[in-house]
Amino acid sequence: MITTVLLCTLLVFAVGVCNGLQHNHVLEEFEPVSQPPNRVSLWPLPQKAQISDVSFKLASSSFRIVDDKDSAGTGCVLLQDAYKRYFEYIFGFAKKSGASRSRTTDQAELTELKVLITSRDSECDGFPSLTSDESYKLIVNKRSAVLTASKVWGALHGLETFSQLVYEDEYGAKTINSTKIHDFPRFAHRGILLDSSRHFLPIKVILANLETMAMNKFNVFHWHIVDDQSFPYMSRTFPQLSVKGAYHPYTHVYTPDEVKMVIEFARLRGIRVIPEFDTPGHTQSWGKGQTDLLTPCYSGSKPSGTFGPVNPILNTTYDFMGQFFKEISSVFPDAYIHLGGDEVDFTCWKSNPDIQKFMNEHGFGQDYTKLESFYIQKLLDIVSTTSKGYMIWQEVFDNGVKLKPDTVVHVWINGGSNEEMGNVTAAGYTTILSAPWYLDYISYGQDWQKYYRVEPLNFNGTEAQKKLVIGGEACLWGEYVDGTNLTPRLWPRASAVAERLWSDVGVTDISDAFNRLSVHRCRMVERGIPAEPLFYSYCPHEYKGV
Ligand SMILES: *[C@@H]1O[C@H](CO)[C@@H](O)[C@H](O)[C@H]1NC(C)=O
Ligand SMILES: *[C@@H]1O[C@H](CO)[C@@H](O)[C@H](O)[C@H]1NC(C)=O
Ligand SMILES: *[C@@H]1O[C@H](CO)[C@@H](O)[C@H](O)[C@H]1NC(C)=O
Ligand SMILES: *[C@@H]1O[C@H](CO)[C@@H](O)[C@H](O)[C@H]1NC(C)=O
Repeated sequence: MITTVLLCTLLVFAVGVCNGLQHNHVLEEFEPVSQPPNRVSLWPLPQKAQISDVSFKLASSSFRIVDDKDSAGTGCVLLQDAYKRYFEYIFGFAKKSGASRSRTTDQAELTELKVLITSRDSECDGFPSLTSDESYKLIVNKRSAVLTASKVWGALHGLETFSQLVYEDEYGAKTINSTKIHDFPRFAHRGILLDSSRHFLPIKVILANLETMAMNKFNVFHWHIVDDQSFPYMSRTFPQLSVKGAYHPYTHVYTPDEVKMVIEFARLRGIRVIPEFDTPGHTQSWGKGQTDLLTPCYSGSKPSGTFGPVNPILNTTYDFMGQFFKEISSVFPDAYIHLGGDEVDFTCWKSNPDIQKFMNEHGFGQDYTKLESFYIQKLLDIVSTTSKGYMIWQEVFDNGVKLKPDTVVHVWINGGSNEEMGNVTAAGYTTILSAPWYLDYISYGQDWQKYYRVEPLNFNGTEAQKKLVIGGEACLWGEYVDGTNLTPRLWPRASAVAERLWSDVGVTDISDAFNRLSVHRCRMVERGIPAEPLFYSYCPHEYKGV
């Protein structure tokens, strides 16, 4: 078998032959894989769960999700909205297809899920944050179930878990077993990066993915909203940025109202929205609507007509950034803004005589990382005055820029990322990991297993250093992704990352994960999300198209 697999790796063109062989190979790893039946699958796996053999029926006509009479969340719109959503998820398909037969059985019925928020400030009207309490307890027994959480954020996760406990018996009747769960996330920052610059992503697609993120207990939407290719963010202060920089000034933009809608939709699902405005590189589209922002590149002694990164030597650059980030900090409520800072190409800076003169005056020699640091330093000072914290890609740390102590360093360069995690945390910075989770790289086979096997704390460092790792993000860069393929490409592959970031460090059994994830994937499909299959399988309720 080893030789066959090796041979197949070499003979990449012999697709027909090798596919057959590979199928056999994978079959041996996972025996009865082809039918995810109606069974309970919790994903991501809760920290502590006990499911007993005692079961109850639920009927859409009598079952209710209600505020407990002692709840601090009574009347909370966020919760009411979630009750409605989860009621639909539990009974929706059955109602539509008439599959839920109201068989009269002598089996006990569960008629109520009571939701009890215990903290006096339920945070119903607030935004989730890095320090939000997301824990919850869920007890299902006798005729009623109780979901207890300190804040609404835990309640949202508990509702998802409750909905995952409900399964269909052999007659299609909704059933739940007596259960005790105590659950909380292992990491506080569990994100998905979507890129709306390489391709414009319709709002509907963004919302569908926020919905799916909630099903997987992700809590950060990292919105890589602009880049070289387009500037779809409609700025009130600088409208020309999207008028000139978007793919189309009316149809391929996010209006202030749409941005607000995304933020509120996310909030209602316990998800933070962290926008990324990456500079000084990755800014070609900015230059179209903002003259003199980018560095003119030279060919010999003359400007070539092309432009490089943001021009770091002009005062006007910093005036612009000050006004721009003042707007961004009021539009996006999260305490953090992602400022990028990755992959700055120095070629254009090197060609420009004014830049060279500036380098000499400042004693930077030929070290352009010093110029980059000069720019980033000024930018960070500007953003600090907005009272926001910032996240930055790892290069900013690598180049020795002075960072505020609460800066989050985002590790993305794959080679040596363990060592980088060690370095960043040794310097005392909070960090998140993305290097092993670039989901835009696709390949044949079950690559979710590779994402699942990652252990974020697998680097050399003290306990104190490991505490600085607050989580990670799965990234789906948009070079080959738009609204047509985003959802199936992301799900359920990102679900592997979701469990790694939520569940206990000891939850690593791949074949158990395969079984649970197969069912979880069918659950997403049943909820209308076109999540791709893991392998040979069928779902009780297949995707019917849009
Ligand atoms: C739920 O209870 C039924 C019996 O009512 C039992 O067969 C099944 O294994 C239980 N499910 C779980 C996940 O324990
Ligand atoms: C840019 O700002 C600095 C510091 O405020 C000042 O010293 C310098 O004269 C300004 N340059 C121009 C061209 O206005
Ligand atoms: C980590 O720091 C050491 C010591 O400064 C350095 O040699 C190494 O290259 C760094 N590792 C990475 C991945 O940057
Ligand atoms: C930890 O350090 C040891 C000794 O320097 C090295 O062999 C090992 O590969 C390192 N482990 C990780 C995960 O970086």
